[in-house]
Amino acid sequence: APVTVKKICCIGAGYVGGPTCAVIALKCPDITVTIVDLNKARIDAWNSPDYKLPIYEPGLDDVVKQARGRNLFFSTEIDKAIKEADLIFVSVNTPTKKSGVGAGFAADLNYVESATRRIAAVATSSKIVVEKSTVPMRTAESMRTILEANSKPGLRFDILSNPEFLAEGTAIGDLFAPDRVLIGSLQTPEGKSAASSLIDVYAHWVPKERILTVGLWSSELSKLAANAMLAQRISSINALSAICEATGANIDEVAHAVGKDSRVGPKFLRASVGFGGSCFQKDILNLVYLSESLHLPEVAAYWRQVVTMNEYQKRRFSKTVVDTLFNTITGKNITVLGFAFKADTGDTRESAAITLIRDFLSERARVTIYDPQVDEAQIWLDLQEALPDTPLENIKKQVIIAPSALAAASNTDAVVIATEWKEFVEIDWAAVYGTMNKPAFIFDGRAILDADELRKIGFTVKTIGRGV
Ligand code: NAD
Ligand code: UGA
Repeated sequence: APVTVKKICCIGAGYVGGPTCAVIALKCPDITVTIVDLNKARIDAWNSPDYKLPIYEPGLDDVVKQARGRNLFFSTEIDKAIKEADLIFVSVNTPTKKSGVGAGFAADLNYVESATRRIAAVATSSKIVVEKSTVPMRTAESMRTILEANSKPGLRFDILSNPEFLAEGTAIGDLFAPDRVLIGSLQTPEGKSAASSLIDVYAHWVPKERILTVGLWSSELSKLAANAMLAQRISSINALSAICEATGANIDEVAHAVGKDSRVGPKFLRASVGFGGSCFQKDILNLVYLSESLHLPEVAAYWRQVVTMNEYQKRRFSKTVVDTLFNTITGKNITVLGFAFKADTGDTRESAAITLIRDFLSERARVTIYDPQVDEAQIWLDLQEALPDTPLENIKKQVIIAPSALAAASNTDAVVIATEWKEFVEIDWAAVYGTMNKPAFIFDGRAILDADELRKIGFTVKTIGRGV
């Protein structure tokens, strides 16, 4: 009979492990959930008495408040949590490799492997091990091999793939009511039995018909495929936005008209300065690498173009800024509103804002930045990484981090909207206009502002995907 899960350990207390397993704890009071991490500062933040959690995610603190200390625990005692658990989620980071074979494309599986080796080293009972991280295909096979080669005799390890589909900024809603939960297992009696143990966990709150069970390899590939197809929609709409700007068509009208076809659907068709986030680019490059390894160069080229188009969109946008400001921004003040890769998160990984600011700094502009959720230290870290050859003191001479949107947007030459934070719509633009150098420019990289109203005030406005 399938194992009834009573204790869960989640290795990795990041953007996925934290919210996912906090929600499991909330919804399954009969299961003890311990989330562990090597990073002590991160665990301390999860345990902080005033709920200053390590990640900003609307609704997350409520979930943690209800479950923490009841059946939800955050700890650095990794071995203890592994030993006690019946089921272990591996939810560690899988970044793109920076060097070695597959550098720039393949996923770095170092963290997955060390977590797996830790499980093998300390387990004294059989475990269900669940791949939660996004991984290349067949990683489950490598995990099984490592576990079987290194564990104590007589123990069983069943490996499941259970990729996560939450989006940052809406993680709690996504976890409460997922479109689907995907569980991949070997199609053996043991594999299916392990899958049904995990189904029982999710069935505490997810309707059974939304829990899909498939083979391990289909599950691993489906995660890469979902992200590739989502990103492809954005690159498609962004490619069309360039045509709109050159012709006078309006990308919102085009997206609306196209999205009305129920086969296309209306969601995820917003033109932008380019997609960011820790996963889209990484997972597509992973798919490109897989395709190349399988000697499928046409397939690789097809998916690679989604990333190429995204790079182009970011470059195209910063070029529009320079071109519009009379072909030079040297010494000019450019205000960038938004630094996170999307609204409602403090996450800056692969944020398009970073690329834009790097471009502006290379043109020797002065840049003022404001984001409601990203702290200063993170901004300096990201800019240093984007400009590795410029000493941080020099970057700091060119950049100011402002305490509010209004402060950032005042006394500047141009305002660039990089993230779609709602508060940017509510700025008193007439007041801002009074303080700006003239002509006063706004570049709306998210198409959130009312351009006609702004033009009435006196601004020169360029909106992504709209020709004038
Ligand atoms: P993250 O970097 O925020 O968190 C990973 C955590 O794992 C870190 O805190 C790190 O210290 C910890 N860790 C690494 N190795 C460890 C080890 N051996 N033992 C204990 N802790 C260890 O990453 P994330 O954004 O949560 O992403 C995790 C995975 O989930 C990735 O594979 C990613 O592709 C995937 N994913 C992410 C999202 C998202 O929205 N961020 C969504 C779906 C899937
Ligand atoms: C994305 C997927 O949506 C999740 O399903 C997936 O689990 C996750 O990646 C992952 O694997 O990490 P996330 O990156 O958190 O989630 O956020 P998205 O809402 O997908 O936004 C990604 C980027 O695309 C953002 O920069 C966003 O601004 C941009 N975007 C999104 C657009 O430019 N236009 C759109 O219409 C939608």
